[in-house]
Amino acid sequence: MEKALEIQKVSQVFRTGFWMRPVAALTEVDFSVPVGSVFGFLGANGAGKTTLIHLITGLRKPTSGRVLVFGRDAASLEARSQVGYLPERPYFQEHLTGEGLLRYYGALSALEWGKASERGERISEVLAAVGLERARKTELRRYSKGMLQRIGIAQALLHRPPLLILDEPMSGLDPLGRKEMRDLIGQLAASGRTIFMTSHVIADVEAICDRVALIQGGRLMESGPLSQFTTRGDVQTTLEALFQREGQGGR
Ligand SMILES: Nc1ncnc2c1ncn2[C@@H]1O[C@H](COP(=O)(O)OP(=O)(O)O)[C@@H](O)[C@H]1O
Ligand SMILES: [Mg+2]
Repeated sequence: MEKALEIQKVSQVFRTGFWMRPVAALTEVDFSVPVGSVFGFLGANGAGKTTLIHLITGLRKPTSGRVLVFGRDAASLEARSQVGYLPERPYFQEHLTGEGLLRYYGALSALEWGKASERGERISEVLAAVGLERARKTELRRYSKGMLQRIGIAQALLHRPPLLILDEPMSGLDPLGRKEMRDLIGQLAASGRTIFMTSHVIADVEAICDRVALIQGGRLMESGPLSQFTTRGDVQTTLEALFQREGQGGR
């Protein structure tokens, strides 16, 4: 099975505060994500999900271990060009329109997207993919939270990456927004992209993912096809147990 992502014995230690006390955010995490899967990385707040995403997107290098994206080191340009990324708390300039934002991000990544007409087409393509064609000329300050999440995904799709990394794409959305985001992720997966998303909500992952990994306190507890967990009655019980122990506080 071809792998979109390989996490090989990855550890991440942060040193914080005056005494530079070490905090192990990830400890020898090891799993892989097959091409074409919708992979849910589940864990309570503070479990280490965003830290791993920073390693996958090349924003940080692991203290030890390796992260490979389509077989290349995650920090390399070749790897980064294959990845679309929706951060956990994206911030967009509110005076821009949806279209203005996409033009800006296209320019930032020095996207070689040819003539103005082609740029317009590419922007139309990603707006259609996330269902925001009609909000193209609307300023972002008038977007709902759900629309902002979707324009964030449109931004991630601009360079047509085969792998999408979504950090808590459902968080802060109301029930309708969650449903729309679930449907959108389903559509993106159906169009052939590999998706790696984090969540602390079991139901969202069960609804759309075909594979899951569970992380607790920076250690991988389980990983594999969702079907494997459900038949063992695992997802619900394992996670509820984990979440009760860790609580929902923190980040
Ligand atoms: N830059 C940092 N410096 C120090 N500690 C950090 C840093 N980033 C994250 N941590 C710690 O690493 C752990 C995992 O955090 P994070 O990856 O954000 O969790 P999650 O995304 O699962 O909520 C937490 O204990 C957090 O406080
Ligand atoms: Mg996080």
